[in-house]
Amino acid sequence: MKRAIVIGASSGIGRAVASLLVEKGWRVAITARRTDALDELRVMYGADRVMTMAMDVTKVEATTTLDRLISEFGAPDLLFYASGIGGQNPQLDIEKELDIIRTNCEGMVRVVDHFVNFVRSSGEYDKKHKAHIAVITSVAGTRGLGSAPAYSASKAMQSEYITALSQLCSMESIPAKFTDIRPGFVKTAILNPEKHYPMLISAQSAAQHIYRGIKHKRRVLIFDWRFKLLVGLWHLIPRFVWERLKVRN
Ligand SMILES: NC(=O)c1ccc[n+]([C@@H]2O[C@H](COP(=O)([O-])OP(=O)(O)OC[C@H]3O[C@@H](n4cnc5c(N)ncnc54)[C@H](OP(=O)(O)O)[C@@H]3O)[C@@H](O)[C@H]2O)c1
Repeated sequence: MKRAIVIGASSGIGRAVASLLVEKGWRVAITARRTDALDELRVMYGADRVMTMAMDVTKVEATTTLDRLISEFGAPDLLFYASGIGGQNPQLDIEKELDIIRTNCEGMVRVVDHFVNFVRSSGEYDKKHKAHIAVITSVAGTRGLGSAPAYSASKAMQSEYITALSQLCSMESIPAKFTDIRPGFVKTAILNPEKHYPMLISAQSAAQHIYRGIKHKRRVLIFDWRFKLLVGLWHLIPRFVWERLKVRN
């Protein structure tokens, strides 16, 4: 039975991915700050399939929590990083911007780096059995978005960071492989319920895309196809034109 640790599984895409993994026969260890929401999944699927632990990725203790989780759960085949916050911020409320950076950038670096160092030193993985690290970034990280500067920049940072880690693991022969997951709009609590979003898909549908991408060990996964097309077109737009566009979502 394969094992996954899902960071940020109390709601949205992380929760849908954790549920799907269990339904596909995996054991999962799930973390987030809202432990009542994590407990719901444990009760639903049983404690033999779902282990829970409180973790706030913005706190330094997140690394000791991860150590404790791994020692109780075992070394996972997959570390799935879903924790994130977002939102538009055209007013540039500085605390909101910095909160996004702390959670999405600092939180990811803290947890993912700690796990890479575990992979490097544990002896649990090798060339034939590499640790798989998957991070939900976003199509929002592919170009700077004026209505959400910290969010789009934090997602770009996550994507580039994964590229850097992937190169580092290759240079240092660390047995880890990476998937950068870039969804378009997914109906979760991170979106503004009062706004209309085009090409919106459900968290369950996102989880199906992600499961297939992980199974096929995709390095970068953009979904669905409409966003893949859109991102391709975005890259063709020269910067001086991009910076004059009104991208409100
Ligand atoms: N929905 C979309 O349209 C969309 C599109 C592209 C990318 N994404 C990305 O997908 C990821 C998941 O978001 P979602 O859409 O599923 O929204 P969500 O339902 O709000 O889920 C966010 C998850 O992150 C966790 N989280 C937030 N702050 C945390 C912290 N300090 N420590 C630990 N966990 C924390 C939350 O758990 P607790 O609050 O319980 O801690 C929750 O489980 C995010 O990185 C988001 O940027 C979403």
